[in-house]
Amino acid sequence: MSRPRVLSGVQPTGALHLGNWLGAIRNWVDLQHSHDTYVCVVDLHAITVPHDPARLAADTRSTAGLYLACGMDPDLCTVFVQSHVRAHSELCWLLNCITPLNWLERMIQFREKAVKQGDNVSVGLLDYPVLMAADILLYDADLVPVGEDQKQHLELARDIAQQRINSGFGSEDHPILKVPEPLILKQGARVMSLTDARQKMSKSDPNEGSRINLLDPPDLVRRKIKRAKTDPVMGLEAGNPERPEASNLLGLYASLTAQTTAEAEQACEGMGWGRFKPLLADAAVAALEPIQKRHAELMQDPAYLDGVLAAGAEQASRVADATLARVQTALGLLGTAASR
Ligand code: TRP
Repeated sequence: MSRPRVLSGVQPTGALHLGNWLGAIRNWVDLQHSHDTYVCVVDLHAITVPHDPARLAADTRSTAGLYLACGMDPDLCTVFVQSHVRAHSELCWLLNCITPLNWLERMIQFREKAVKQGDNVSVGLLDYPVLMAADILLYDADLVPVGEDQKQHLELARDIAQQRINSGFGSEDHPILKVPEPLILKQGARVMSLTDARQKMSKSDPNEGSRINLLDPPDLVRRKIKRAKTDPVMGLEAGNPERPEASNLLGLYASLTAQTTAEAEQACEGMGWGRFKPLLADAAVAALEPIQKRHAELMQDPAYLDGVLAAGAEQASRVADATLARVQTALGLLGTAASR
């Protein structure tokens, strides 16, 4: 019996933060025990907006190191770098040619990012969701763990697979691509900004104080939490729409200490901010310590990490190349003698 397959990825832009860990990576760590799990560092997505070429390689390596430091185990799952598996770019091209332009023009994230880029919007930014569809479809993924903000992209991947490839070039009993399902994550899925609890904690927020990076040293973590926005109300509570900061920080505390929100709420309902914040800071520092330690060890040993990524790319390519060949054949490309 084969296990259901999962694929996910994070961009190596800037440092990963608590939202990436609690919202994504920590769930992958659980999934790797029950699912055939593929996780990649999506470096090709990172270049869809202006980027610093002097940092990309190091950030890619560091991000892969964080996957492992957070508990992704190369004996249980496949960890790889997107650009190491050529099929991602190749399938993206094939999908480009059958995806209607207006499907991309209406993507919310494209519109938001395009506004920020002014008149320097690349074709790659528009094409971002098609590359993401290629990432997913190459692996015949059953499930794609994504945050709320990526649902529209996943929907697009499903539409491309179903309406464009399978309906257009396959037959009912011989679908070419598997149509993936989203796995919208549960607790901790949405860690909000420390400076504006109505916005998601994000790498692209220009305010460093809005997020806690996984590699922030303890004193910086404490300082950021100390400065996090609060409200004048006494007592922590979750789920009160009038108190987004209380909900966010209590939820964060619950996630960091492996409690349910209700448990954390019970423990903290009588506390003022002055008592709660040091507790939250201690919890964050304690949770990050083992990750930072493991990450530092991995960065000291590039040969080990390179080996993991090489093996990951090899395993990923085996699966991806087979899917790519299926699509090439369906679209009528000749293919090399070896691939036929
Ligand atoms: N777009 C995703 C994000 O920003 C990252 C991503 C790229 C991804 N390819 C993917 C996530 C494939 C899941 C599956 O979060």
